Amino acid sequence: TADQPFSVPMPVPVTKRPTRTVRGTDLYRMAIKPARVEILPGKTTAVYSYDGQFLGPTIRADLGRPVKVEFTNQLDHPANVHLHGGHVAADSDGFPMDVIEPGQSRTYNYPNLQRGATLWYHDHAHHMEAEHVFRGLHGFYLIEDGSSARLGLPTGAYDVPIMFRDVQFDENGELLYQIERDTILTNGKVQPFFRVGTRRYRFRLLNASTEKGFDLVLGDGEPMTQIASDGGLLPAPLPRTLVRLSAGERQEVVIDFARYPVGTQLVLNDARSGVPVLRFDVVRQEANRRRMPTTLVPLPPMPRATRERDVDFSFDLSGFPVGQVNGKPYDPDRVDFTIKRGSTEIWRIHNSDPDGIDHNFHLHMTHFRVLDRDGAPPLPEDAGLKDTIYVPAGARNIRVQAHFPRYTGKYVFHCHFLEHSSIGMMATMEIVP
Ligand code: C2O
Ligand code: CU
Repeated sequence: TADQPFSVPMPVPVTKRPTRTVRGTDLYRMAIKPARVEILPGKTTAVYSYDGQFLGPTIRADLGRPVKVEFTNQLDHPANVHLHGGHVAADSDGFPMDVIEPGQSRTYNYPNLQRGATLWYHDHAHHMEAEHVFRGLHGFYLIEDGSSARLGLPTGAYDVPIMFRDVQFDENGELLYQIERDTILTNGKVQPFFRVGTRRYRFRLLNASTEKGFDLVLGDGEPMTQIASDGGLLPAPLPRTLVRLSAGERQEVVIDFARYPVGTQLVLNDARSGVPVLRFDVVRQEANRRRMPTTLVPLPPMPRATRERDVDFSFDLSGFPVGQVNGKPYDPDRVDFTIKRGSTEIWRIHNSDPDGIDHNFHLHMTHFRVLDRDGAPPLPEDAGLKDTIYVPAGARNIRVQAHFPRYTGKYVFHCHFLEHSSIGMMATMEIVP
């Protein structure tokens, strides 16, 4: 029944095939449209979807091989698409005001000139992004640069994207868009199971909630092995007994089920809410064919920073809450930071709200490294190349360093609690030649 945990299999989102390939560019077509999908067993739920699927189809791209996606908006209001973590030109970045009107189509160009990484695409239409993502406008976009095969990481059916997010249903099983939510979805199902063999799997974990954070731990307390974060592979695998993901963040982990006998049922819990979110059922004997690498891919050198800036997140709570960056609500016509293309900067991120209000920080167009947090070393979840980090209540000075190569134009940075960004906690940087 619907209330019985671990009674439905975890679906793996389908990988979309290109409609055509023209001179080495893969062309895709996708519809942004309302759909009815089965989330709760035996019921259908009205959602917004990419191609009729509550988890949009996965796009798998290769380094240096461009992808063009023509999105058609079949909703009755504006929408757009942002490739989260993508290094793309400003006119393909889904700037909040740069929307696809109902009935119109728009082609986004993704050059895939960046390290292999787990990215995701989602709506970013001004004021609408939180509700649109809540209603289902989210999907995976994976870039492969050859490292996975070279390192012998699990591939194919053993390389599994998993999207966690919270949701709220009403008594009829329809979505209820509100801040309080009592249900967690794992690849679009409530507490599914996933059948595995006694070998290593690569799981690409994404938190696509608009606000909720997850602390993922295995039921037996054994560590997972983190191999990548937002911007791709780490220099070396790192054991993690707890995987913390704030909204929008990704971590990739390897779990070796060879340590469990066939018949084991291993739960993955969200320690933050105390809820089991997935059960791995070890159902067959299989062998690891390759060794687990001891090193992965070194991080690129980070040029010396030539400029420092402050980014301060807060709410103006004097009336209806307004989100602010550096004391100002988002204004799409205002440029907050002007940055020279090719430069490297250190940004100091502050949460200046009273205790209890968390935020996080997401930067478009590039990745950054976390230097320190209030003078202390970065947290485990800050490892590697990041585009989104947790900025908890009380964080006064998180220093990040970013390089701004290649593109010019206007991009946003914001709190990725989308209920915060959609009411103003967002600002614009313009990158100039
Ligand atoms: Cu995932 Cu500007 O967002
Ligand atoms: Cu926020």
